[in-house]
Amino acid sequence: MECIEAIKGRRSIRKFKDDAIGEEIINELLEAAMMAPSAGNLQARDFVIVLNGMIKQKLREAALNQSFIEYAPVVIVAVANIGRSARVYGQRGELYAIQDATAAVMNLLLAAHSKGLGTCWVGAFEEYMVRDLLGFA
Ligand SMILES: Cc1cc2nc3c(=O)[nH]c(=O)nc-3n(C[C@H](O)[C@H](O)[C@H](O)COP(=O)(O)O)c2cc1C
Repeated sequence: MECIEAIKGRRSIRKFKDDAIGEEIINELLEAAMMAPSAGNLQARDFVIVLNGMIKQKLREAALNQSFIEYAPVVIVAVANIGRSARVYGQRGELYAIQDATAAVMNLLLAAHSKGLGTCWVGAFEEYMVRDLLGFA
């Protein structure tokens, strides 16, 4: 798929088939994510791949009960690794890490679309709940 075609064709999808997404595809999506630019090439972003139904259910609860989250075959939680960027860029590292993560998410969504997979960015969630659930400081 042409890049411009992917950009124009992508839409948020909130209904999913039951088909599992194989590890190979997930890895390809992560590779696409990590090819996004990052400040100083520090890759100040991490990804948590959630396949477990119970964790998905808890993510749904953390995300204002948006039910489609629970039914997605894969949920990928993108995390801005502020510490990694701040070690080099100080306070500016916070902004850079968030930008590193969001650039990666956009790559991932476009890569998924180019493979015929539907995605939806979820930004409405209680951060403390996701942090506790996934064990982030
Ligand atoms: C930062 C951000 C947060 C978002 N949060 C949510 C969300 O919590 N739930 C949801 O259903 N969609 C969410 N979206 C998706 C937007 O609703 C969607 O991108 C927008 O309506 C445009 O539709 P499109 O993606 O189909 O072009 C979010 C998108 C962004 C960029």
